Amino acid sequence: MIAYDTAIRGAFFDIAQVADSADDIARHARYLPDGVLFIAGGHIQALLPWQEGEQYLDPHKGYSDQSGKLLLPGFIDAHVHYPQTEMIGAFGEQLLEWLTTYTFPVESQFSDEAYAKEIAEFFLGQLLSHGTTTALVFCTLHPESVNALFTEALRLNMRLIAGKVMMDRHTPDYLTETAEESYQQTRALIQRWHKQGRLGYAITPRFAPTSTPELLSAVRQLRQAFPDTWLQTHLSENPNEVAWVKDLWPEHERYLDVYHHYGLTGERSLFAHGIHLEDREWQCLHETGSAVAFCPTSNLFLGSGLFRLPACWQHRVRMGMGTDVGAGTTFSMLRTLGEAYKVGQLQSYRLRASEAFYHATLGGAHALRLDEKIGNFQPGKEADFVVIDPAVTPLQQLRISRCKDIYEQLFVLMTLGDERNIRETWVNGERVWQASASSIG
Ligand code: GUN
Ligand code: ZN
Repeated sequence: MIAYDTAIRGAFFDIAQVADSADDIARHARYLPDGVLFIAGGHIQALLPWQEGEQYLDPHKGYSDQSGKLLLPGFIDAHVHYPQTEMIGAFGEQLLEWLTTYTFPVESQFSDEAYAKEIAEFFLGQLLSHGTTTALVFCTLHPESVNALFTEALRLNMRLIAGKVMMDRHTPDYLTETAEESYQQTRALIQRWHKQGRLGYAITPRFAPTSTPELLSAVRQLRQAFPDTWLQTHLSENPNEVAWVKDLWPEHERYLDVYHHYGLTGERSLFAHGIHLEDREWQCLHETGSAVAFCPTSNLFLGSGLFRLPACWQHRVRMGMGTDVGAGTTFSMLRTLGEAYKVGQLQSYRLRASEAFYHATLGGAHALRLDEKIGNFQPGKEADFVVIDPAVTPLQQLRISRCKDIYEQLFVLMTLGDERNIRETWVNGERVWQASASSIG
């Protein structure tokens, strides 16, 4: 007997456990071409081969038949800015000019809670329609932007982590606060939202150049007062940014030393980018149990540089994939993995499909310290997953029909796939998004 509310038949792929190398991932990859997933109370009860599981089906309940479809754990976007949804594809600038020309004016609109609500709802709809069930999200300086996002994520019962951007210098007046205001507002938001349902709060200093020492001291105090919150910021994305940090913080030798000095490194700390890191910085990330987010479409779009995945493995630093919308150019984790492969090619690194999908699922969960709760189909985990049709266009149908095994299929999916391949998205055991029957995706 298996007690369940919902059962789903289909093909399943996941990685059974956290791994410490690409070969280790390949060893723990699991493919079940015809399986049945049992869900109860939002959690996974069992995943069995159809022949074994069929006997446990209750004829009164029926099951969802997704034969021919591929079920994957829900994607985890480890770095994204929801207020930047409307400015994807802003022309011509690299990081620092891109921020002042495009980003700050767009973010200024989020003091209006009605506006924030409209974009927050659109954004969460985009995550779900692209198969992303968990994200670590930057809001704006305004508490209204956080309230709008969390209100909707709570309604959807998503495992979502987010926070108010903190910044008290080198920003336009309309987006500048004092360290004290930032501390008080962040504190109140943590008390209101952290651990509500499946939500988590991330303390969110934007990056070192927009922080005074007082602001980073306030961050340290918040970390001490609320040790189970997350922390997110940006690190070593662009050469001009790195040089600016050296100018602003001459007492610290390297970029990461600034954050480390104020206690920002550690478990549940996630640093976006980390492209231009020195070995000592990688080492510090490892020693403190910090994590990085690899955002290939953003790094290419802004011309920031190439993330060094081999260095990340070598230094045993936790890593998740990020879209980094709106510097990133897509919400699709499939397209993001395709770009990650190309970043690897430019450095003679072969990103295998098993490794790529690990980073987008269990690896991301590990980076966020959520691997006990999400990231694969292990019994007891929260039932967040995505139903994929690997071949929805004539080209995909031709190419997929020539694949010899699941690994080739997955690789083609990350090369040719996008949101059109996402048929259903499930959160906490409920289907929260479904492609319309007539649409391709
Ligand atoms: N560094 C500081 N702020 C940002 C941002 O909004 N996007 C990116 N990509 N990098 C940043
Ligand atoms: Zn970012």
